[in-house]
Amino acid sequence: DETVVRRDRFSGGPARGFLSSLSDDERIFAADLAVDRAHVVMLAEQGIIEDDVTGEILAALDEIEADGHDALTDGEDVHEAVESAVIERVGPAGGKMHTARSRNDEVAACIRYRMRADLLATIATVIEARQRFVEMALETRGIVMPGYTHLQPAQPTTVGHWIASYEQALQRDTSRLLDAYGRVNQNPLGSAAFAGTPFDVDRERTAELLGFAGVAENSMDASATRDFLVEVTAALANLATTLSGLAEDVIVMASKGHVELADEYSSTSSIMPQKKNPDTLELVRGRSGDATAGLNGLLTNLKGQPRAYNRDLQRAGRHAWDAIDSVTESVEVAAGAVTTAEWPVETLRDAAGEGFSTATGVADLLAMAGMPFRTAHEVVAEAAETLGPEENAPDYETLDAVCADIVGEPLSQFVDREAVEDALDPVQSVAMRDSRGGPAPEAVTEALDTAQQRLDED
Ligand code: ARG
Repeated sequence: DETVVRRDRFSGGPARGFLSSLSDDERIFAADLAVDRAHVVMLAEQGIIEDDVTGEILAALDEIEADGHDALTDGEDVHEAVESAVIERVGPAGGKMHTARSRNDEVAACIRYRMRADLLATIATVIEARQRFVEMALETRGIVMPGYTHLQPAQPTTVGHWIASYEQALQRDTSRLLDAYGRVNQNPLGSAAFAGTPFDVDRERTAELLGFAGVAENSMDASATRDFLVEVTAALANLATTLSGLAEDVIVMASKGHVELADEYSSTSSIMPQKKNPDTLELVRGRSGDATAGLNGLLTNLKGQPRAYNRDLQRAGRHAWDAIDSVTESVEVAAGAVTTAEWPVETLRDAAGEGFSTATGVADLLAMAGMPFRTAHEVVAEAAETLGPEENAPDYETLDAVCADIVGEPLSQFVDREAVEDALDPVQSVAMRDSRGGPAPEAVTEALDTAQQRLDED
């Protein structure tokens, strides 16, 4: 028949494989069948094609689905191959399936349909990770650990406050993914090649049949845009960056003996028998490159493409598929590695006092007693200068002497010895910082209540 003859002419010769996306299109095989079904049902309802032909086409599509993607051969992509397989079963009337559409609106619909499902799975995985982090944060909100800035000991915090910080970031990642979902979930079908169709198609109906929330209005935009993939991939790159920071934290902690990863999330060395390495988290860190590469590849593919459809677009989707597969696995593994790890309470508490990390708390205490914060900062800094290499904090007497020297009054004019000694203790130091969102266990508990409410809404 005509279609087959034309296809033979344009079969590509030596470029055939280069032109073909058939094997890549396995990703959208099921989506293509769904889109075909919705389209032919709409055509029949609109009286554009006959009911009996529609029935035969739908039956053929069921058979094609049962045979699977690998049974497809005749066509340069899944859309042609499915159409050929329909015609093979129904005869030339099967070619009515392609009335009032083009592969351009068809492939756009397939990508959106499949991406919607993938996004939902990813969002569910992120939500699951957040739930595990909230539970872990509740359990570990009393475990004091060192907090760092510039990788230098800064102030003591808790494991719970630290992991809750990542739950918070994942909350925003969830909302970016949900936001992208809304713009993915629009129906491009009915825009045909780009210029619409003379047939009386019902675009709302195909939207309804495919579960799209709305219609991508302008036919030229609907058939050509892939900006929704950019949004998804950008949200994934952001998520992957969040995860890479988490992974890096745990890798550093593991290097100091501040965390013990479960064996299932560790690897060993082929030569050094004593090694237990945080390889899973190194791969999470490394995979952030997959998402960034995807975003870069996608934007580079799309940049400067003229309206309307260009074949470049056949190479756009892969960047987003690779990114979503890679990052979703990272979420699972990162959440698994962190929530199954053991936190050595004593080691962490000892480390939390290292490097005079309670200094800010002592300065805060003096400031609360009325000394200007800048002066308090100076007193504590001066006392810190006296520390020997093995010492983690100055004693009360040193602070007292420095205070007398700088302020002209002894420390006891401002605070009593007991309060200073509390402030020098990492556990008390954390407990003092009970401002909203802070690390004190009650503040963490309160923040986790809000986090849990948000999680239930998401
Ligand atoms: N396989 C193509 C894609 O993935 C769809 C085909 C549209 N081809 C065309 N020559 N108009 O983008």
